[in-house]
Amino acid sequence: MKKLEKIYLHLAIAQSGYCSRRKAEKLVREGRIKVNKETILSPEYKINSAKDTISINGFKIRAEEEKVYFLLNKPEDVLSAVSDERGEKTVIDLLPGSLGIRIYPVGRLDKDTTGLLILTNDGQLAFRLTHPKFKIIKTYSVFCEGRIEKRDLLKLERGLEIDGKKTLPAKIKNLRFDRPKNRTSLLIEIYEGRKRQVKRMFLEIGRPVLNLKRIKYAGLSLGKLKKGEFRPLGKREIAYLKEKTGLLNEKGNDC
Ligand code: URA
Repeated sequence: MKKLEKIYLHLAIAQSGYCSRRKAEKLVREGRIKVNKETILSPEYKINSAKDTISINGFKIRAEEEKVYFLLNKPEDVLSAVSDERGEKTVIDLLPGSLGIRIYPVGRLDKDTTGLLILTNDGQLAFRLTHPKFKIIKTYSVFCEGRIEKRDLLKLERGLEIDGKKTLPAKIKNLRFDRPKNRTSLLIEIYEGRKRQVKRMFLEIGRPVLNLKRIKYAGLSLGKLKKGEFRPLGKREIAYLKEKTGLLNEKGNDC
């Protein structure tokens, strides 16, 4: 028997492949979405994906679609977006066009940032992997200008203000100062994903980032993937991510 799965309305719409999560939120707020023939105006309304019927402008949408999961080593000069109005290359262009499924990047990497990016059409997992509430650790390898003073390291780790809001605690590892090149290399672990967060944290201490690469996400690493290469996640890796984000019960079933 199909399990009942409670899911936010905007995520269910995005998961159907109809549109992005943001567009789905807009459609709901505009009153264009019905659940079981009743107009719902809150994107956070919870539906049972196995039971409820969603319709958009009178047309039913399928709440379920086969879920796919990929891990990409993002090269520089590629946008982590689904599409771009100016025709710039996006991470979706790096995956096989034959997928026929709408997938999207989990979180964002800047155009010049390289490294680990998960792509999926599983809206629920994507939401949990990016929301700071779920404390998913992302590890970045950073090269920055100059040497970092001890008090600035503490600021990075304890949190500093960007856009008027303090960053959550971070961890710094493998700190090394290269005197001839006058630059520092380190690893930083954060569990937020604010826009240009790492670069802005380092700017705040007067140490501009020269190079940024994400090397780990939720415990997954790039392994042997070269820049521009991708691979599907294995069953175990998917289960691991679901478990980390509280989407699996003790028996390993989706909940
Ligand atoms: N922090 C940044 O500043 N840029 C990224 O691409 C990712 C994290």
